[in-house]
Amino acid sequence: MRYWLVVPAAGSGQSYGGDQPKQYAQLAGRTVLEWALAPFAADSRCVGRVLVTAPGDERWRALPGCAGGAILNVPGGIERVHSVCNALRAVAGCAGPQEWVLVHDAARPCLLRADLDRLLAAGAAHPVGALLAVALSDTLKRAGEGAEVDATVARGGLWRALTPQMFRLGMLTTALDAALAAGRVPTDESQALEWQGLRPLLVPGSAANLKITGAADLALAEAYLTRCDALP
Ligand code: C5P
Repeated sequence: MRYWLVVPAAGSGQSYGGDQPKQYAQLAGRTVLEWALAPFAADSRCVGRVLVTAPGDERWRALPGCAGGAILNVPGGIERVHSVCNALRAVAGCAGPQEWVLVHDAARPCLLRADLDRLLAAGAAHPVGALLAVALSDTLKRAGEGAEVDATVARGGLWRALTPQMFRLGMLTTALDAALAAGRVPTDESQALEWQGLRPLLVPGSAANLKITGAADLALAEAYLTRCDALP
């Protein structure tokens, strides 16, 4: 099995409190982006990497974790989905529609190698593709006016979608193009395929694979990266 990696890193989010986008925040001696790329650097199944950065952003070129093996660089778009579409166009210049593409957020620095392996095995055997996800464990509340509880939402069957998400290049491109043509903005790749009536496979992943949003996430990620042997 072989796949192309797409890493959207064109966001401008600085809500962790730093003075640059979160993919360039320092974390256990490297940037968040370098940690996000690390599990793929040593994976021979990964035949090419496409990094999507904000137009004019050249900071990634100086990072040691972005060296070693060619990286195609494409400019990002307004929303994450536009950034991913730009990357898929670059992949289409080198790969056929049946090739697998993994999309992994630059803001997720703690992907376990075992989770990547499990996703690839399950996804490659599925007709649509697959995504890492975590089943919800907290009790869910729907808020009403003034943040008072309106209702408790049954959590059975509810999952949090993570990345990587893996789909075939042709199917994914068709789904994202159709969503945008219909004026709909999917927040992940799976949603675009779901809108096509397709049913991607949920693959249980570790909650360690968190997305950096605020400062607390950086502290938690640092704890995972410095204490867990299974991380890259
Ligand atoms: O903002 P959020 O955390 O949901 O972004 C998820 C990922 O998508 C991040 O790695 C971010 O850099 C990327 N992104 C992008 N292009 C955008 C917005 C976000 O590549 N226009």
